[in-house]
Amino acid sequence: MVCLGNICRSPTAHGVLEKLLQNKGLSDSIEVDSAGTSTYHIGDHPDPRSIAAAQRRGYSLEAQVARQVRSSDFQEFDYVLAMDIDNLQHLESAAPSGCKANVQLLLSFSSDATESVPDPYFGDAGQGFEKVLDLVEDSCQCLLVQLQRELSNTKTEQ
Ligand code: 4NP
Repeated sequence: MVCLGNICRSPTAHGVLEKLLQNKGLSDSIEVDSAGTSTYHIGDHPDPRSIAAAQRRGYSLEAQVARQVRSSDFQEFDYVLAMDIDNLQHLESAAPSGCKANVQLLLSFSSDATESVPDPYFGDAGQGFEKVLDLVEDSCQCLLVQLQRELSNTKTEQ
């Protein structure tokens, strides 16, 4: 999960998918992580407003620590998912040639027509963070269905 600062949107997506995987007993099969395209907040914990909004819905983000995307992410992960178009463009130019990871928008998995998860950082403490959670919860549910399908295909092939 990738956004600009790795303190608001991608930690939220990380925390939401992590919880969904735990609920399905899939934490040992599927790894989730998050990163930022920028260096602005490396080493920081998520924004307190993101932590509080997520906490109200039962997700725990406080242990996460921001880092920047690295080239090994494109080898280690099957999906490298951007929160907005700028993040996606950054990832597309950072991806090593021959990269096999699916580099796409998280919301390409959404049932919502919106393309991007709007950046809540410069807004007020309320609505923006709830909107992030609404969009991320919906798309992570759809993403999970896809991941489960891929896992069961892998098991059938073995
Ligand atoms: P994020 O939000 O990309 O969702 O983590 C932001 C956090 C910090 C900044 C911008 C966006 N910033 O400019 O510091």
